[in-house]
Amino acid sequence: PLYTWIDKETCIACGVCGATAPEVFDYDDEGVAYSILDDNKGEMIVPEELEEDVLDAHESCPTESVKVIKRDFNQ
Ligand code: F3S
Repeated sequence: PLYTWIDKETCIACGVCGATAPEVFDYDDEGVAYSILDDNKGEMIVPEELEEDVLDAHESCPTESVKVIKRDFNQ
């Protein structure tokens, strides 16, 4: 499973993640992104159908602020 959150300290509000994964990322009043899955806690498993979008956003963010963790519970 995949987890994601935004490092709001380094996000420069470029707007790429919300365009890439609109069902996962939105912006606060200042345009800084956060995960709408779990209010940016990074605790909720990303729905499988959205994994690809999240990984795209992760690779596209210019400041590497789209954080992603993969956990394999079988290990
Ligand atoms: Fe911020 Fe990166 Fe998204 S700079 S708006 S987290 S693509």
